[in-house]
Amino acid sequence: MTANEIRQAFLDFFQSKGHTIVPSAPIVVKNDPTLLFTNAGMNQFKDYFLGNKPAPWNRVVDTQKCLRVSGKHNDLEEVGVDTYHHTMFEMLGNWSFGDYFKNEAIEWSWELLTKVYNIPKDRLYATVFEGDAKENIPASTIALSKWKQFMSEDHIVFGNKKDNFWEMGDTGPCGPCSEIHVDCRPEEERKKIPGRDLVNKDHPQVIEIWNNVFIQFNRKKDGSLEPLPATHVDTGMGLERLVRVLQNKTSNYDTDIFSGTIAATEKITGKKYDGSDSKTAVAFRVLADHIRAIGFTIADGQLPSNTGAGYVIRRILRRAVRYYYSYLDYKQPLLFQLMPVLGKQFENVFPELEKQMDFVSKVVKEEEDAFLRTLEKGLKRMDEIIGNAGKQSLIPGKEVFELYDTFGFPIDLTRLIATENNLQVDESGFEKEMKLQKDRSRAATTLDTEDWVIVKEAGQSKFVGYTQLAATTELLRYRKIKAKGKESYQLVLETTPFYAESGGQVGDRGWLEADGTSLEIIDTKKENDPNYPFHRNIAFQPYRNNQCTCKC
Ligand code: ALA
Repeated sequence: MTANEIRQAFLDFFQSKGHTIVPSAPIVVKNDPTLLFTNAGMNQFKDYFLGNKPAPWNRVVDTQKCLRVSGKHNDLEEVGVDTYHHTMFEMLGNWSFGDYFKNEAIEWSWELLTKVYNIPKDRLYATVFEGDAKENIPASTIALSKWKQFMSEDHIVFGNKKDNFWEMGDTGPCGPCSEIHVDCRPEEERKKIPGRDLVNKDHPQVIEIWNNVFIQFNRKKDGSLEPLPATHVDTGMGLERLVRVLQNKTSNYDTDIFSGTIAATEKITGKKYDGSDSKTAVAFRVLADHIRAIGFTIADGQLPSNTGAGYVIRRILRRAVRYYYSYLDYKQPLLFQLMPVLGKQFENVFPELEKQMDFVSKVVKEEEDAFLRTLEKGLKRMDEIIGNAGKQSLIPGKEVFELYDTFGFPIDLTRLIATENNLQVDESGFEKEMKLQKDRSRAATTLDTEDWVIVKEAGQSKFVGYTQLAATTELLRYRKIKAKGKESYQLVLETTPFYAESGGQVGDRGWLEADGTSLEIIDTKKENDPNYPFHRNIAFQPYRNNQCTCKC
């Protein structure tokens, strides 16, 4: 079966059991302050479970776009390195709102897996909640006796609250659950170690594919459990894993969910994907995974930005750019070229991407262009930092912040490169620098800054103002800023006679001359920025030969 057929078989099966097929909710969450992105199929149905709203149906089925890269489930660093973690994934789910409960849910799971998908029965295992005395919740005896109708007891594994009691978050609907695991190992291995010993042990081939949650409680803010007036069913099956099992592959990336974008990447870069652990293969997997998260979130209305959900997308995108730049040796925007392949592939499932293809591709290309402008210099700076690290195994927070602020490196990108070089990053030092920057920009009221454009690579700006009032120099970097509706530029010069306002002393005024033009420095920035001490806000036009004379 193809992935499309597998998805459709799920929807058709539950439709035949009286469920209404509903569309996926947007992957971007706008009305729930506890979530940035949809991370489970049940998110959009929360109010029906809690009884806050009557459900318009008793039973529904869908495939939901989910993203797990922030908050409780954060797998970003694993993605692409292994063959089964993803940022965006599809969750197939069936729901009962106060209608059927454990017996039917388990019976139908078994029927679908063994009769429609034809998974061999002896490869399936089920887990059942063992109960929790502290919370006063009994063991799931109904689930146990139902599973016993289908499988021998040695295929049923009891699990504790961690594995078998599902909660949406710190508060909200929850209840005991029963997971279904598949043992995909070769026969000889299965003979040596029984599959039940590997259930929930992070074995890459003994994997959970489906979780049946029996929603019975509301977890309140004070931590107590309140029984709900009605009981519900909430299930979630990861499509990518299911397809891997049914297509008999050992890697999710070898299925037809990812083969289209991988083939397109091969064509664009001229490199080959060989499925190994090499950096090249990791880069292929990173792109095949990240393009989906990027495409579908932008199509659902979340633009990349420097805060909140937008920054999650920017981080994912920049991680992808760094991988193709460093390991596929491709130095121009690539992701936007993959977008049409993805749009076509999902045209009949999530049509929103194909419908907005021009817009999404344009946003992605602009993001790639912007990051590629600083990436090479940032990587060089990173090399210097690594070279200077010497015996220290920690990259100081100030340098992590410099990479973030000047070169647009999200901390997880710096962390990734650091790990590749057996180094760690000073996370709390970075947080401290971030806080300082926030305080500075608060002090500067609403200052909207664009990314720095690096003109010339060099270390710190050199201040010569104690002995000279003029200098001929070059521009290191500049950025556009907007304050109180007015656009201007901040410049960092290689050598500068301008004293920056600090310690109560007023900053210097003067002018810059270049290409026959003279630009007056009319305003000193009111913030005391220790990282860029020689900024000025001035009207600015890039110089033809980058050389200017400045006087004060
Ligand atoms: N809500 C359940 C999960 O996400 C099905 O695993």
